[in-house]
Amino acid sequence: MALKIGLVGMGGIGNTHADVYKQDELASLVAVCDVKHDRADAAAEKHGVPAFYSLKDMLEAMPDLDIVDITTSGYENGSWHYVPAMEAIAAGKNVLVEKPISNDVREAREMVRFAAEKGVYLGCNLNHFFTKPAERADQLIDEGKIGEPVYIVHKMGFNGGEAGYGGRGSARWQRPYSHLKAFLAHPFSVMRHFGGDITHIQAYLSKPGVRKTADDLMYSINSVHVRFENGSTGYLLSQRGDAMFGLGGWWSFEMAGTKGTFVIENCVEKLSFWDANQPKSSMASPEPNEILNTGISDFGATFPARLHAYLEDVTNKVPLEQLRASGRDALATLEYTFAAIKSFEEGGTVVRPESLPNLHGDIYKPI
Ligand SMILES: NC(=O)c1ccc[n+]([C@@H]2O[C@H](COP(=O)([O-])OP(=O)(O)OC[C@H]3O[C@@H](n4cnc5c(N)ncnc54)[C@H](O)[C@@H]3O)[C@@H](O)[C@H]2O)c1
Repeated sequence: MALKIGLVGMGGIGNTHADVYKQDELASLVAVCDVKHDRADAAAEKHGVPAFYSLKDMLEAMPDLDIVDITTSGYENGSWHYVPAMEAIAAGKNVLVEKPISNDVREAREMVRFAAEKGVYLGCNLNHFFTKPAERADQLIDEGKIGEPVYIVHKMGFNGGEAGYGGRGSARWQRPYSHLKAFLAHPFSVMRHFGGDITHIQAYLSKPGVRKTADDLMYSINSVHVRFENGSTGYLLSQRGDAMFGLGGWWSFEMAGTKGTFVIENCVEKLSFWDANQPKSSMASPEPNEILNTGISDFGATFPARLHAYLEDVTNKVPLEQLRASGRDALATLEYTFAAIKSFEEGGTVVRPESLPNLHGDIYKPI
């Protein structure tokens, strides 16, 4: 039976989710909600469902909703997530929330804690690793073809340059850490998906002259050095339209191990794999042993894949701690973000992110 979904926040991304649900047999979109009446009405007409102007009214009128999907935004694209998420969790609903889970780490901790207490599935749209290249990379790791992890290098952000600088932007972006809080959920989620938990973080943040001249508060260049729990090391470079990314474009990810290395380019598009055991000269640049060209270049393909995974997990009633891209996973990315900010504010000290809430496991379903 399809899961009944109410969507909260009918901007561009809310409408993207609505279009995805209409194509997914596990989903039945039954209501849309936006505090802006015109947006709620337009979405209701487009998607053929009733409009609500508050979540409270939606929950009262539709008591049998299975999922409340929250696609609001706010400061740093996350300050409007907490209130509706807590309201939906209190009503016993499963919640999918857009990234970042919040722009405030204390709110995110509370959301994760409350969802665990109520026993509902709190998921986050960390969509960047629900792709064919990531699926193949997971297989390579599981097959032992990467071996002992050595390093991860990840570049992700927005192409641009001085000539394309568009000015300081709205209030929700005029905050020093707006790029980190709004965006680093994505690259940190990808790094943690492949590399596991991060235990140490060191960051240097910057901005180019054009922003300084405009008194733009945003630290748009984020250079982050990490250590993973497994002992390997990692580097993340993210920037928001200050430069053109060279090799690998706006989204490139390289993970190297003692037995092999893979690279993903353009998120959805391509994976290359080099086998460390092939005959080679140490200074040569051998061709990859394997190339996966998916034929997909549109990043939009991540939305149906990720939303379907959430629908599958809820439908299958997986143990709560096995939910893919869970609220706890999203909290991890925010703990890393706040650790990076702390490191920068302390002049580049090494910061240990707060540990995540314990996973208790389900006593009825032994692991
Ligand atoms: N996963 C991805 O790849 C991806 C990509 C882009 C954006 N996003 C995320 O999607 C979210 C939405 O982005 P957007 O650009 O569509 O935002 P938006 O600002 O255009 O739309 C948000 C809507 O939420 C409404 N809203 C706010 N609080 C509300 C409440 N309590 N109840 C009902 N409606 C409320 C607003 O009126 C607005 O119409 C952001 O969190 C952003 O970070 C994710």
